[in-house]
Amino acid sequence: MAYETIRVSPCTAAIGAEISGIDLAKPLGNQQFQELHDALMAHQVLFFRDQPLTLDQHKAFGRLFGDLAIHPNTPGPDGHPEILPIHADANSKRIAGERWHSDVSCDPEPPMGSILNLKIVPPVGGDTVFASMYAAFNALSPGMKQYLAGLTAIHDGAMNYSRTNRLIGAEGPKSFPRAEHPVIRTHPVTGRQAIYVNPVFTMAIKDVPENESKAILDFLYEHCAQPHWQVRFRWQPESVAFWDNRCVQHIAMWDYFPGVRSGYRVTVKGDKPFHRPN
Ligand code: SIN
Repeated sequence: MAYETIRVSPCTAAIGAEISGIDLAKPLGNQQFQELHDALMAHQVLFFRDQPLTLDQHKAFGRLFGDLAIHPNTPGPDGHPEILPIHADANSKRIAGERWHSDVSCDPEPPMGSILNLKIVPPVGGDTVFASMYAAFNALSPGMKQYLAGLTAIHDGAMNYSRTNRLIGAEGPKSFPRAEHPVIRTHPVTGRQAIYVNPVFTMAIKDVPENESKAILDFLYEHCAQPHWQVRFRWQPESVAFWDNRCVQHIAMWDYFPGVRSGYRVTVKGDKPFHRPN
């Protein structure tokens, strides 16, 4: 694809691109927005350097792609309910995203994308690893693809968010989102198929025996975590990563304790997942 207003350097054949020649703090022209959107559709996660965004600029950039979601468990800073603080230091008992997941997949309409701007990063460590669920799907056998295409999974936020609240001693909300989604999700823009189950939010596959559900989910979690379709992002202060939750899973490395890693995420609302055979 030819880009005229941004530079796009793919990181791997399967996933990820570094974007330069753009200032995310400034309003984007129509062509620049369209090219950024095209790059996200092509590479699934985009990385930017040297983007010192204020919270308002961060939200304004996110809103170009849709309405912003408010996190179901973690409140934003005063006056910014749509901002999710991402913070770890010597007092932390857990970090956000320390197991493979697609953000808030327990929501009936899970977020299309997430945009993370880190302000403070450890001198080494604290990388985020992203995996292409298109590539993971493509690597399955035809028979497995066909079997999975007919299945629905139950996603629930209760276990993950209750554990978080227990560890940090927060009371938290009384209830959490729960939803049923196809195990193989068709991306609404690209039409490509992606695996859409993850160990943080997926509880079971519906209407199959419990041991079959467990075996299939365990297989998929191991399959999705293979390095063949991963990219690993090494953060610098004021880097930004923008990932498409509809076709990407990610995991944050907590290998820098007791170091500090801190920043903010905005989450762009999405729509109800569906499966359309092709
Ligand atoms: C998350 O959004 O899951 C956190 C990712 C990160 O901190 O790298």
